[in-house]
Amino acid sequence: MQIFNKRLDLQAFLAPLLKENKTVGLVPTMGALHQGHLSLMKKALEENDQVVVSVFVNPTQFNNTEDLEKYPRNLQKDAETIASLSDKIVLFAPEISEMYQGTPRSGSYDFQGLDKVMEGAFRPGHFEGVATIVEKLFTLVTPTRAYFGEKDYQQILIIKRMVAERKLPVLLVPCPIIREESGLAMSSRNERLSVEGHQKAAFIYKVLQEAKARFASQPIAQIKAFVEEQFTQNSDFQLEYFLIVDENTLQEAQQKEAHKAYRAFVAAYIEGVRLIDNLAL
Ligand code: PAF
Repeated sequence: MQIFNKRLDLQAFLAPLLKENKTVGLVPTMGALHQGHLSLMKKALEENDQVVVSVFVNPTQFNNTEDLEKYPRNLQKDAETIASLSDKIVLFAPEISEMYQGTPRSGSYDFQGLDKVMEGAFRPGHFEGVATIVEKLFTLVTPTRAYFGEKDYQQILIIKRMVAERKLPVLLVPCPIIREESGLAMSSRNERLSVEGHQKAAFIYKVLQEAKARFASQPIAQIKAFVEEQFTQNSDFQLEYFLIVDENTLQEAQQKEAHKAYRAFVAAYIEGVRLIDNLAL
């Protein structure tokens, strides 16, 4: 498998393919690859002539230095995982200085309020950092399609906004959340959990399912109170937020309205690790 560390080398590799109008699928990641990433790569392989996977732990999207330092990194293992999947994928793994000149800084965007709730509210600057690096990757690779997992559902809407604002010619492909047998959403952060913590973390999905089961018959405020109580009673977790929102605007729903689609979102800490998950209701 070819690995590129320099932007110019990746561009030189892609130039003849783009000239021949070959399709390029991009899977942006921060590494510590798991089955969720592999599902994105498989879809990208099905739909494109060439696939690029980027592995870059983007400093501007971390509002917490400790979180950035502790983010799992294992490029060697990631390269082996990709190579075992297909030889049609190339890996782009740049240093920070390749992606940012001088001190890494985010650009500014108008996310039209999508950044004011949930991850945006609890992780200030996070989405500016995400949009900045994804814009840089889109400009560099000029992919036909780019693949993102719905575990980071809010991130997908933010990237859609950025793409519209910057008028970038790329098709975004949202992909379903991949779960472990227990229901726990796959995440690179799960690597930081103990074996016991890993098992206990399945609680998040169980509560989301319970919320979904109640959605048809109970008012939103009652479901919210129920979920918050479940977390209060479980001393392994600290709940950051549980919200039921309109899945297009991400505005918190007070009452159910016909013709609107809703989604429940959770962020909670277990063993000091912050996990997020969501479920369409
Ligand atoms: O979802 C992620 O892993 C990251 O936010 C992304 C999209 C690769 C940008 O750094």
